[in-house]
Amino acid sequence: MPLVTTKEMFQKAYNGGYAVGAFNVNNMEIVQGITEAAAELNAPLILQVSKGARAYANHTYLMKLVEAAVIETGLPIALHLDHGDSFDICKSCIDGGFTSVMIDASSKSLEENIALTKQVVEYAHDHGVVVEAELGTLAGIEDEVSVNAEDSSYTRPEDVQEFVERTGCDSLAIAIGTSHGAYKFKPGTKPQLRFDILEDVARRLPGFPIVLHGSSSVPQEFVKIINENGGNMPGAIGIPEDQLRKAASMAVCKINIDSDLRLAMTATIRKYFNEHPEHFDPRQYLKPARAAIKDMVAHKLVDVLGCDGKA
Ligand code: G3H
Ligand code: 13P
Ligand code: ZN
Repeated sequence: MPLVTTKEMFQKAYNGGYAVGAFNVNNMEIVQGITEAAAELNAPLILQVSKGARAYANHTYLMKLVEAAVIETGLPIALHLDHGDSFDICKSCIDGGFTSVMIDASSKSLEENIALTKQVVEYAHDHGVVVEAELGTLAGIEDEVSVNAEDSSYTRPEDVQEFVERTGCDSLAIAIGTSHGAYKFKPGTKPQLRFDILEDVARRLPGFPIVLHGSSSVPQEFVKIINENGGNMPGAIGIPEDQLRKAASMAVCKINIDSDLRLAMTATIRKYFNEHPEHFDPRQYLKPARAAIKDMVAHKLVDVLGCDGKA
C-alpha cells in the first residue's frame, strides 16, 4: 500500500468517535518505535515532519524512512508536513511526496490566513494532497518560535465556517487550551480544555475533522526519571489524558504528540547512561529508547486516541 491521505482515516475516525495519532518523526529509531506499536495494534497513523525535522534529517532521508515503514507494516500511513509556514515549504513537501501538509498562518490576520491557506489548498488539491489549516493561536514553543500564554487566543467559533468555505481546507486545527512543549501550564494550575468551543465549532462544521496540536500529557514518571538522572525539568506539566480521550470522542480526528516521545526517549537514555557509564555503542542506548517510544505510542493509541484495531 502506498502512503495515503488523511481523507478516509478522518471520515472513519469522525464516525467512529476516535482520533488518529499524529506523531513527529526526526530519525530512524523514532519512526520504528511509532510504527512498530501501530503495526501490533493495527492502528492508522500520521507521521509528521516539522520544518526543524526537515532541516535536521533532510527531506529525502525522512521520506525514505517512512516509505520503509509502509513496506514493513502494510499500515495506512499519511506523511504530513507539521506547521508549514509558507507556500514554498508546502509546495516543496507536496512535490516531494508528502500526502498531507499543514499551512499554519494562524499568527496572521484572518484575511491573510485565508489568502495563504487558499493558495496552498489550490496547489495541494491539484496534486492529490490534503491540507490542514489553523485558526486561533496556541501557547508554547514550535520550531523555536515561542508564544506566551498571554499572546495565545482561543479559536472564535464564529469564524470557522467562513474560513473553511473560503479556503477549501480539509481539516482545521483549533485552539481550545492545548499548548506546545513540555511546560504547558504553571505548576499547581489545573488544565481544562474548552469543550464548549469544540462543541460550538463542531455544530457549525458538521462532519468536518478537527485537529488538536500541543496534546502531550507530560507523564510525570518520565520527568522524574530525567530529573533523577542529571536532568533539570522542574514544572513540566501537560494535558490530562482523559480530556484528550473526550476530545477524540467528539469532532477531533487528529491529535498531535511530540513532546511525550521526546520525554520517553530522553528519560530512557539518561537512565541508561547512569546505569551503564562504560557503554558507548549507540545501539546499546538507542534500543531501549526505541522500545520506550513504542510503549508510549501503544499507550496513546489504546488509552487516549482509541484508534487501535481501526487500520
Ligand atoms: O509543534 C511542534 C512540534 O513539536 C515540532 O517541534 O519544530 O522542534 O521539530 P520542532
Ligand atoms: P506537543 O508539544 O504537546 O507534543 O505538541 C506537538 C505538536 O503539536 C506538533 O505539531
Ligand atoms: Zn503543533
